[in-house]
Amino acid sequence: MTDFDVVVVGAGVTGLTVANRLHAAGRRVLVLEARDRVGGRLLTEDVEGVRLEVGGQWVSPDQAALLALIDELDLEMYSRYRAGDSVYIGRDGVRRTFEGEKFPVSETTAAEVERLVKELDRLAAMMDPLSPWEHPDAEELDRISFAAWLAEQTDDPEARDNVGLYVGPAMLTKPAHSFSALSAVLMAASAGGFSHLVDADFILDRRVVGGLQRVPLALAARLPEGTVRLDEAVTKIEWTEDGATVFTGRGAYRGRHVVLAVPPTLVSRVQYIPALPPVQAQMRQHISFGLVIKLHITYETPFWRDLGLSGTAFSPYSLVHEAYDNTNEDVEGETRGTLVGFVSDVKADGLLALSAEERRRKVLEALAAYYGEQALTPVHYYESPWMADEWTVGAFGTSFDIGSLTRYGRHLRSDVGPLAFASSDIAGLGFQHVDGAIRMGEAVAARILA
Ligand code: FDA
Repeated sequence: MTDFDVVVVGAGVTGLTVANRLHAAGRRVLVLEARDRVGGRLLTEDVEGVRLEVGGQWVSPDQAALLALIDELDLEMYSRYRAGDSVYIGRDGVRRTFEGEKFPVSETTAAEVERLVKELDRLAAMMDPLSPWEHPDAEELDRISFAAWLAEQTDDPEARDNVGLYVGPAMLTKPAHSFSALSAVLMAASAGGFSHLVDADFILDRRVVGGLQRVPLALAARLPEGTVRLDEAVTKIEWTEDGATVFTGRGAYRGRHVVLAVPPTLVSRVQYIPALPPVQAQMRQHISFGLVIKLHITYETPFWRDLGLSGTAFSPYSLVHEAYDNTNEDVEGETRGTLVGFVSDVKADGLLALSAEERRRKVLEALAAYYGEQALTPVHYYESPWMADEWTVGAFGTSFDIGSLTRYGRHLRSDVGPLAFASSDIAGLGFQHVDGAIRMGEAVAARILA
């Protein structure tokens, strides 16, 4: 059996960051990946002649770890198309266009939204996203759902629906009644404030030329040949205080340290001998993936631009609660236009219960309500399949159920003997984002080197 200083399980951005930093420091590293490719939740694919970013894609200005890595890897970026008016469909069902980040709602609703955003900014400013359980109001905020908290704050349903949208469907991809107000504040604090979540131009600012999967591909390419072993799902880990043996269908590998760079939900899919301590096993039963379907719809031309529209559209009342122009500006000679849209949580449950044909019809009708009849006739339609992919099983990321962030959160990043845990799902800054994956990878590598 070959011995390594560190065996990393998972070749997503987290695992590949760990491996790069440890290899650069002279450690013998092995990365075991279940899939036949690297990148995990980042995947750029040519689907019937259209290049799609099937998973994560956007980079925002506060993501210092990701920006530094993009720079280190010599990758280039370009801005998301955003010239023109955005579209909003309100509670009254009326479609309105607007400029800037404030939705065109009544003056009273706008004032309520502003007040709630301010309050959430205030609560987020008091939180270190690495330790949300230390927030002065942690216990109180973790006992109440975000929906119930919003109902306590305002009687205005449209204000509640809009503020709920930024964290529920758009980020944690769960209904606002199923996660705590503390988790909502964590989402805000991890992005530098609630005001950032509200500002699509900030949060969805730029894209990497060639797609964001180029980051893990470049990280893997920097490792010596044979370091990353694909198609090797880890099934069992036998461990003592001195090290561990990691088993896959193809072999067994010995490591002084093992880093489980997989989402917390998939940590439990591996058998541990001896078993993980009770709190570790319990904790992971209170974490689950959200559900969102990322839709990619390509048209002969970006027709919405000719109508003076940016492609940005929102409505808490639409099946597709947000949509954007996602045309590949970096592809030379590209004349087609692509929209990306999202169907989240319970709306996604409903959509997934339909036939493929019905799903497509419902989605296109929702887009037509934003952009007009032309949206009904795309040349290409694609739904990202993360919820049915056994090595992710959901999207975008995982989060705790109500009350569990304060109950278990402090154990998320604790080592168990030679086993360390890392992924974007347990990050502070950059929680559920590639930026957080890099931060977690770097933190684990530094801890092992120390
Ligand atoms: P990730 O899940 O990527 O990697 C874990 C790896 O472990 C996988 O390759 C998996 O196959 C492997 N694995 C699991 N179990 C294993 C086992 N037993 N043995 C071996 N290997 C195993 N972020 C962002 O910054 N901007 C964005 O725009 C978006 N948008 C977005 C859209 C969609 C649709 C998704 C699904 C996600 C995003 N994200 C995002 C989130 C972002 O993609 C995500 O946070 C990181 O890519 C996660 O990286 P990790 O390496 O932590 O986990």
